[in-house]
Amino acid sequence: MNQTGVRIAGVGHHVPAKVLTNADLERMLDTSDEWITTRTGMKERHIAALDEPTSEIAVGAARKALASAGLEPKDVDCIIVATVTPDYAFPATACIVGAKLGIQGVPAFDMEIACSGFIYGLTVAASMVRTGVFKRILLIGAEELSRLVNYEDRGTAILFGDGAGAVVLEACATDSLLGVELGADGSNPEDLMLPLSGTAGPALTGADIAAKRNTIKMDGREVFRFAVTKMIEATETALDRAGVKPTEVAWVIPHQANKRIIEAAATRLAIPTERVIVNIHRYGNTSAASIPIALSETYAEGKFKDGDVLLFVGFGGGLSWGAVAWRWTTAN
Ligand code: UT7
Repeated sequence: MNQTGVRIAGVGHHVPAKVLTNADLERMLDTSDEWITTRTGMKERHIAALDEPTSEIAVGAARKALASAGLEPKDVDCIIVATVTPDYAFPATACIVGAKLGIQGVPAFDMEIACSGFIYGLTVAASMVRTGVFKRILLIGAEELSRLVNYEDRGTAILFGDGAGAVVLEACATDSLLGVELGADGSNPEDLMLPLSGTAGPALTGADIAAKRNTIKMDGREVFRFAVTKMIEATETALDRAGVKPTEVAWVIPHQANKRIIEAAATRLAIPTERVIVNIHRYGNTSAASIPIALSETYAEGKFKDGDVLLFVGFGGGLSWGAVAWRWTTAN
């Protein structure tokens, strides 16, 4: 098989129309705009309608990414959706996305590694393009965490939002994938989990549903500590493998979980905050969608120059983490 390079040929994002503001949450819970803003940096998030499943917002992002690459859906030869909120447990949401885009026969599958989904997906998809197996892969991070949240639990209800971001990865002569670090440690899954959602029983009962036991559970402080440590370690390792110094990174595009986590990691890495993309105030934490949404917005603002080194870094349920150093390349 031929070894080739890989680049991002197109990016796009799509979020549901409905907005849930901190003022809305103040009316629903014992919380305040001041607490949410100072503790997380969040101001509002988008919430999908009940007839707007994950595949729908994924298709919205995919169409924009394809348009930005000057491509049609039929030009893609593989579809990957990173999500913890699939339309169904099966079939894979990626299969439904393919059908909605009007392309039959194209391989399609989902990846589930929570908020690290885009980082893992980028590594998998880029590696698949590099081997020559696929020429163009549509990679989408799409999530509707609003469906998993208990809106009576102020510790989690304020954090999450819905949205989708997509990239088209394309074979090219030069290579954008400079360095990768991925990791996972499943020894304390209860730090961040959706209980009663799979085969680890007991079976979900009506009483569980009434008590909202099948909603996101999180040890916020523990995840916060883990997040800062792993964002720093993963960044250092990925940059080291890429042979790139932190000072040479043009843009850091981190998972948007908490502004304080992002700022703490950037400070310890001595990366100036003006090079760190933060849009958490408008979207909250959209899990696997947060990095591609931030990438898409930054691209649309015309901020990337050819040759810029981008650093994608994130963490999430698993617990899991990862960083990818990536060279922005327009030439194919
Ligand atoms: O994609 C990965 C997903 N998860 C994360 O990245 C989460 C990482 N963790 C965090 O972002 C933070 O831990 C949180 C934002 C979740 C919480 O912030 P914190 O500064 O760690 O607060 P805390 O949990 O230590 O709670 C401090 C206080 C508590 O009150 P007491 O015990 O000191 O009286 C909480 O009950 O703040 C209270 N509190 C709230 N108050 C108002 C917790 N949530 C709220 C709220 N509004 N929404």
